[in-house]
Amino acid sequence: MTSRYKRALVTGGAGFIGSHLARALLAEGLEVVVLDDLSLGKRSNLPKGTQFIEGNICDPVPVSRALEGVDIVFHNAARVSVRASISQYVEDAQVNVFGTLSLLRALVGTRVSKFVLASSMAVYSDSETPVPIDEGFSQRPLSPYGTGKLAAELYALQICAAHGIDVVPLRYFNTYGPGQAFTAYVGVVTIFATKLLRGEQPTIFGDGLQVRDFVSVHDIVQGNLRAMHSDVTGQVFNIGSGIGVSVQEICQLLIAKIAPDISPLYAAAQPGETRNSIANIELARQRLDYQPTRSFERDVDEVIEALAAS
Ligand SMILES: NC(=O)c1ccc[n+]([C@@H]2O[C@H](COP(=O)([O-])OP(=O)(O)OC[C@H]3O[C@@H](n4cnc5c(N)ncnc54)[C@H](O)[C@@H]3O)[C@@H](O)[C@H]2O)c1
Repeated sequence: MTSRYKRALVTGGAGFIGSHLARALLAEGLEVVVLDDLSLGKRSNLPKGTQFIEGNICDPVPVSRALEGVDIVFHNAARVSVRASISQYVEDAQVNVFGTLSLLRALVGTRVSKFVLASSMAVYSDSETPVPIDEGFSQRPLSPYGTGKLAAELYALQICAAHGIDVVPLRYFNTYGPGQAFTAYVGVVTIFATKLLRGEQPTIFGDGLQVRDFVSVHDIVQGNLRAMHSDVTGQVFNIGSGIGVSVQEICQLLIAKIAPDISPLYAAAQPGETRNSIANIELARQRLDYQPTRSFERDVDEVIEALAAS
């Protein structure tokens, strides 16, 4: 599909999701500029052909340089750890709330006509039962990270509407795929697989029966591209697989693939993490024509190979 946009800014484009998105935008024929402070992202993630600006989204100088000639922004830069946000709530808000506000202020009055925001399933309250939740489900976040993401959504909706900029916040669910940096906090698939590849026992927090919606990074990219091509504005969308899988099942699948002799450790459930988190994706299906095409069983080998090679 030909894009009506010519030049995209991907903040956080040296990170996991942003680098996959940058690659897909280049393949669609857009010029792509990436702004990233490399706090977690890596230069080596940047696809060939991107213009890279190293800088912080809170700093107006690199932000205004990055916005030169840009007509669409995909805002993915963030501090991404739910667990770290419990103690580092100021640092979390500095980037995820104030960084988003600085970016919004900088793009008003430029050629930018669409703002696609990476939000999160962490904006929702806990769901008592493992049923898919839609965009209207109660929003009482369990963590400062979720609170910041919800605030960023609301600010983006208000500020963009006030200045005639189309805005689409996308609530990503648990995203897996090649290229996610290993840290102790983020990405259960990457954490479990990395530990198993090292011959170490993975740790399951709680009883392992908590259910998550594991969505491929390729489907997350598809959601962003659909948001770009669509005329919808002012609407928030869940972007997930629509299918719930328990953390224990994911762990067992990875154990069977990587190290059948290793068994998991169990530790106390972590504060700030939901019991059940499954996306109802009907709205995105209907209004964005979003259709997840991947499955964990199909993609798991790709993820393991990428981690083994890294
Ligand atoms: N991975 C998931 O499961 C998931 C789920 C829901 C939402 N999200 C959201 O998706 C987006 C991308 O996440 P990801 O998983 O690719 O994480 P990531 O850490 O790989 O990517 C985030 C990027 O932002 C950069 N960054 C952080 N602070 C910055 C700052 N102040 N200025 C400039 N760059 C900065 C980092 O260096 C990194 O490259 C984030 O907004 C995250 O909150 C991710």
